Amino acid sequence: MAHFSKANSIGEWLDQRLATKKLWKVLAAEYWVPKNINFLWAMGVVLMTMFSILVISGIFLLMYYKPDVHLAFDSVNYTIMQEAYYGWLWRHMHAVAASVVFLVIYIHMFTGIYYGSYKQGREMIWISGMLLFVTFSAEAFSGYMLPWGQMSYWAAQVITNLFGGIPFIGPDLVIWIRGNFYVADSTLTRFFMLHVFLLPLVIMAIIGLHFYSLRIPHVNNQDGEDIDFDYEAEKYKNGQKRESKVIPFWPVFISKDLFVVGVFMIFYFYLVGFHYEFAMDPINFEPANPMKTPPHIYPEWYFLWSYEVLRGFFFDIGPFKAMSIGLTAFGIANVIFFFLPWLDKSPVVAPAHKRGAFKYWFWILVIDMIILTVYGKLPPTGANAWIGFFASITFLALLLVVLPIITKKEAKSVGGAA
Ligand code: HEM
Repeated sequence: MAHFSKANSIGEWLDQRLATKKLWKVLAAEYWVPKNINFLWAMGVVLMTMFSILVISGIFLLMYYKPDVHLAFDSVNYTIMQEAYYGWLWRHMHAVAASVVFLVIYIHMFTGIYYGSYKQGREMIWISGMLLFVTFSAEAFSGYMLPWGQMSYWAAQVITNLFGGIPFIGPDLVIWIRGNFYVADSTLTRFFMLHVFLLPLVIMAIIGLHFYSLRIPHVNNQDGEDIDFDYEAEKYKNGQKRESKVIPFWPVFISKDLFVVGVFMIFYFYLVGFHYEFAMDPINFEPANPMKTPPHIYPEWYFLWSYEVLRGFFFDIGPFKAMSIGLTAFGIANVIFFFLPWLDKSPVVAPAHKRGAFKYWFWILVIDMIILTVYGKLPPTGANAWIGFFASITFLALLLVVLPIITKKEAKSVGGAA
């Protein structure tokens, strides 16, 4: 057995049994981060903070929420909003965090794309990130159902219906997901279980994987420089802090991270206090009514771009054909970013502004996704339908055709393998 001596402090006692000092070194005090990164690299820690706020506010909401179609609406809009002390505050914090977390996810994702942080050994960081995007989306969708208002009900109706388009198993799958022939109490209770238990658990596990996948390749930097982390860390430890290209995560880098988190919290609590309504659809303050379809059904802002890709193909070429094209395009749009490390054929890791055609590709993609988001909220009629259609085609072409072509050319020009 290992040698144990009398400990002089609780820390020492724990260290003898759990090697806590070593663990702390591995996780924080000797986890090396490049010096050459900007505030955009703090978005990961901002995301962790937002996720923690979602979990804590969710626990408070859970104390009063009732997952039953007869009680859910009142438990949210009456008990939580009016009866429970500060219930309104927890609800606004939860709803606003659920919305702005997607803003930060998109900033984090597009930072990765801009700086090429998804290639050369960083593929697992990217894939685990995309898994987080998908599970966060499922978490947001299942949470949106819980207040059992008109939008909750009809969004559940539209989205579960989509599975009906899958060949052969579609219609049975819809019934299986709903737990009934229509969206009903069984649907609400299973989405409740997913929202408060299974999905948060899966998200925590994937966050663990995301962090672990950062360990070997380390984070990228503003110039895409290939840093020898062991060599630079030795320099830092030998006192050459100025010459070294890296800093330890704790306590140096975290102090910068916390500054950004602080600024973000000011923005977040400003929204919670003064503009919470942007995160709550007015139609959802009407109780769910299966007999009354809202004139215009649309998802929250963060799903609008992919919703528009789905709708973009619903033009008049016979309903079945259009539906299957739309569904296929929607399916592709939702998984295409997983394949980014392989659609980009160039070995160059550098910021987009140093990568010629890629720079234009990046900004056209951003503008196209903004157009899809704007038109996803407008009724799909007349000119809107055409703009949606062209923006959807552009989106697919940019990722499936243009990116491989321009990056193959880039690979050739630098003499790297395609
Ligand atoms: C939603 C929960 C997420 C959390 C808590 C999270 C957390 C983090 C943290 C702490 C870092 C290291 C520092 C930084 O670059 O910010 C990081 C890096 C990274 N994340 Fe995420 N992330 C999340 C989602 C995503 C998503 C959706 C993607 C995109 C698909 C993604 C892709 C990446 C990439 C590529 C890096 C490496 C950046 C680099 O090397 O420069 N992450 N993440």
